[in-house]
Amino acid sequence: MSDPGPPIPAASLPLAARAPGKCIVFGEHAVVHGAPELVFAIDLETQVFVRPAETASLNHDPAAAASNPYFARALASAWADGSPLAVQTVSRIPRAAGLGSSAAFVAALTAALGAATGGIDRPTLARRSFEIERGAQGVGSPGDTTAVVGGGYLAINGGDGVPLWTVEDGPRRWEVRRVEDPGWIWVVAHSGIPRSTADAVRAVGTRLARPDGPRLLEEFRRVAEAGVRAVAREDRADTASLLARNQELLREVGVSHPRLEELIRAAAPAAEAAKLTGAGAGGSIVALPVPGQETDLVRRLARAGGLAFVVRPAPEGAGLLAAPGPR
Ligand code: MEV
Repeated sequence: MSDPGPPIPAASLPLAARAPGKCIVFGEHAVVHGAPELVFAIDLETQVFVRPAETASLNHDPAAAASNPYFARALASAWADGSPLAVQTVSRIPRAAGLGSSAAFVAALTAALGAATGGIDRPTLARRSFEIERGAQGVGSPGDTTAVVGGGYLAINGGDGVPLWTVEDGPRRWEVRRVEDPGWIWVVAHSGIPRSTADAVRAVGTRLARPDGPRLLEEFRRVAEAGVRAVAREDRADTASLLARNQELLREVGVSHPRLEELIRAAAPAAEAAKLTGAGAGGSIVALPVPGQETDLVRRLARAGGLAFVVRPAPEGAGLLAAPGPR
């Protein structure tokens, strides 16, 4: 294995941890079925503040601690001690927007619990965060949790060289490799339409089970594999045509949405390409701006009704914060 990054060190409660969100460039949905994906951690993050308490609570709400499936599963899997904890969260990642808010919450909380139980290495944090998110959602790939634990650009089941780590789930196996940051600026626009990742993943699974499913999955695989290589060699023209092809495939499996298509059309004059990012069926698009037209692109997307902003890759994955945080 190559260098997965520094472990989360041992620390005692109260403590605070953080994890970035993520933006998928190529391969969402198909990655659930073992095809490649390219994803990067973004410069918006979730912070969690964890302290011992008399009663377990999430953002001061004991009922939320019991009913939030990510919280309940994280505690069950990473807090053998079982003593009650009060957890508070602060997040700048829009929720249900395809930008990894649940993966960031799970990874930050699991990093904090890992630190409080003697420290945790990064591959174990990635695997544990995946198990928690997958358990809470019922379906999914380790792409989101891997991105927010690893930071930077990562290829899942693609790219070259020795993997940083692997994640397994029954017969499925995903290898994680680092991809050099090409230094590009991306623009994201959230449609404001919330959606369920699990529903979208199940609908695509049903679609791919039809007779032409293997052909479609093969094309998803080809596009994402070529996309990882195009980004790695900083080839914007190839990247743009592969982004457009990936969007056609996502449309064909039914996870685009009229609002996403409107945003993609609105982006066109100032973008080399745009596609949905994440589970789709609502959520967000990501666009590769024409260099120098980033502000114009944000303006066009905002005029079309999107919550538009520039995203940059965050080189660092989940980790501890110096300050123990609010009480
Ligand atoms: C969601 O951010 C990405 C999907 O591919 C689901 C997953 O990989 O778990 C749609």
